[in-house]
Amino acid sequence: MLRFTTGDSNDGPVFYLPFAGLSLTIPAMRRAIFPGSFDPVTNGHLDIIERGCKLFDEIIVAILVNPEKQPFFTVEERQQMLTGVLLEIHQGQCTVRVDSFRGLLVNYAVAQKADAIVRGIRAISDYEYEMQMALMNRRLEPSIETVFMMPAETYSYVSSRLVKEIFQLGGIIDGLVPPLIEKRMKEKMMRP
Ligand code: PNS
Repeated sequence: MLRFTTGDSNDGPVFYLPFAGLSLTIPAMRRAIFPGSFDPVTNGHLDIIERGCKLFDEIIVAILVNPEKQPFFTVEERQQMLTGVLLEIHQGQCTVRVDSFRGLLVNYAVAQKADAIVRGIRAISDYEYEMQMALMNRRLEPSIETVFMMPAETYSYVSSRLVKEIFQLGGIIDGLVPPLIEKRMKEKMMRP
């Protein structure tokens, strides 16, 4: 969106028009990182991405490469599944891309020139851990803000950990993850 202003602005590049005393301001692009394990991506994650798209111009869904954990899906599988399900959500004008990272999240965020880290908060129980991480990340890198977002109430009890547990014990996960993810989980169970 282009904006005409008559005064100073810190928004982004300003182009002065030599007539009428106007300047043309292009608002700075807002980029956020949505980090996580996404093992697997749930409908709750997708709900947060859709909501984040209303606030940011670009969201990088960043999968943590954690050699200490034994995941259900490999990073490559998670990256591919995320890319597939993102095609089905409403992104508006926002660009959503999938990536992976190692090491400190704030270092990755700075390298990506991000303004913010987005995290979903489902319940008060999430808050303590998320607050601790957000404040630690702020201490490490004050230029990056953490934005907490609430998913729809329907997803307030959905987590990747519970989805995996229920699935592995034969429970129904319909509605908790997109159909593609359920399909991939079934395939993975048959061919690990
Ligand atoms: O989906 P998760 O497992 O809750 O995501 C946790 C994640 C990836 C956001 C967090 O573990 C993380 O940021 N790890 C990267 C290492 C790091 O920066 N640690 C310091 C956090 S204060």
